[in-house]
Amino acid sequence: MANVTFSSPRMKKDLTVYAVAGDTRTLLAVAKANNIPVDFECENGECGSCQLKVTVLSDKTPIGVALTEKEKTVLRFAGKITQQQIEDAETKDLPPPWRLACQFVVRSEDILVEF
Ligand code: FES
Repeated sequence: MANVTFSSPRMKKDLTVYAVAGDTRTLLAVAKANNIPVDFECENGECGSCQLKVTVLSDKTPIGVALTEKEKTVLRFAGKITQQQIEDAETKDLPPPWRLACQFVVRSEDILVEF
């Protein structure tokens, strides 16, 4: 089970929700299911409107580190991620700071999501 904490000036207070083990929903799906006001348009990794900051809180090595090709393209274009951060995610399991909610799949690690 993963704790997913959403934090935003657009919310009255932070909200932590629980993603069940084996959950393969995207972060956007988890947000929508819990009425979290995350922006989105295309839901297909193309518009960039769902970009948000994700911090892994667990001590163990995170699983959902690799970015999708669409995330790499959109986040690079938006200046939210560097080529080095992409390479670190792919070769060192270092979580990149920004993700697309419609592409990032919630795994077992606890995360803080800021938007
Ligand atoms: Fe368009 Fe996620 S909603 S990139």
